[in-house]
Amino acid sequence: MLNNKTILITGGTGSFGKKFSEIILKNYPEIKKLIIFSRDEFKQFEMANLPQFKNQNKLRFFIGDVRDKDRLHRAFDGVDIIIHAAALKQVPACEYNPFEAIKTNIIGAQNVIDCAIDRKVEKVVALSTDKACSPINLYGATKLCSDKLFIASNVYSGEQDTKISVVRYGNVAGSRGSVIPFFKKLIAEGATEIPITDLKMTRFWLKLEEAVEMVIEAIETMNGGELFVRKIPSMKITDLAQAMAPHLKLKEVGIRPGEKIHELMISTEDSRSTIELEKYYIIKPESEELRDRILIKGKPVDVNFEYNSGNNSQWLTISQMKDLIKEVDEEI
Ligand SMILES: NC(=O)c1ccc[n+]([C@@H]2O[C@H](COP(=O)([O-])OP(=O)(O)OC[C@H]3O[C@@H](n4cnc5c(N)ncnc54)[C@H](OP(=O)(O)O)[C@@H]3O)[C@@H](O)[C@H]2O)c1
Repeated sequence: MLNNKTILITGGTGSFGKKFSEIILKNYPEIKKLIIFSRDEFKQFEMANLPQFKNQNKLRFFIGDVRDKDRLHRAFDGVDIIIHAAALKQVPACEYNPFEAIKTNIIGAQNVIDCAIDRKVEKVVALSTDKACSPINLYGATKLCSDKLFIASNVYSGEQDTKISVVRYGNVAGSRGSVIPFFKKLIAEGATEIPITDLKMTRFWLKLEEAVEMVIEAIETMNGGELFVRKIPSMKITDLAQAMAPHLKLKEVGIRPGEKIHELMISTEDSRSTIELEKYYIIKPESEELRDRILIKGKPVDVNFEYNSGNNSQWLTISQMKDLIKEVDEEI
């Protein structure tokens, strides 16, 4: 599927982009080229000098901003597959700079779609987040708009035959600003208790490799219009604290703005459009025209189905978490 293809990833210097590039260059030696598209030359310089990317003759770096349509049009020349990972994704930054979030996450998304169709790109996969499902903050709301733009664009991409789908995933364990580095810092500073916003809080636990696998599976199987959601385990935040600092007391400090007790990946309202496969779910488009094009077969979920981190059937034990924290430590 990827043999002799030119792949471009917007936001290729980010956490997802680096892991995706590493896996593609290692496991798919027959690709033609892998192009990293992002704004900051220094991040590109740093990435190019990482051991896994040094001397990779199929890797290219392209400076550009997804807000700049002309630049995207230039960059997409000869590209077969696009992964759209570029985004503003810090919840507080999006709240304080709302139109900046709109320009990158919504207008940028539409620019990627328009240029991909005009350049006759075969396939586009855009990354989404659980925060886009019933959003309660602007980051989530911009990503929901982005998801809808990507899915709906299959209606008018027909003539060029560009297929466009979305992969949604939850918080990456150990990513910058997330709970594991936060607890680690407190423990290192000699804290006497661990603050927990709500003792009932649960989260999905996603490894970046799992997000990359889901994107590769999407590229291989998509027909355009699918919103893929990978099945992943959940954890209780209190268990995480127990795994990291069994000697410390827990202190409930109250939920923060823009935060949910359980993260939501598929809402009850989505359930009538959702099918289940062994490793993932697919939310089909609302439009019947688009829905009929989806060829992947799966079992429809129950009408009141909801996929949230609190009602998951897979849970991590404290000892599994301890092993995973070690893995995360090696990656940070
Ligand atoms: N991390 C998570 O926990 C998580 C969870 C669910 C979904 N996601 C989604 O996954 C995607 C990738 O996330 P990530 O964790 O890899 O993010 P990240 O580490 O913050 O990387 C973001 C990337 O986007 C680039 N970028 C930002 N604004 C840009 C613009 N206007 N034009 C071009 N490039 C731009 C950044 O490079 P420059 O600054 O140099 O441009 C960087 O390469 C995002 O769409 C995010 O919403 C992430």
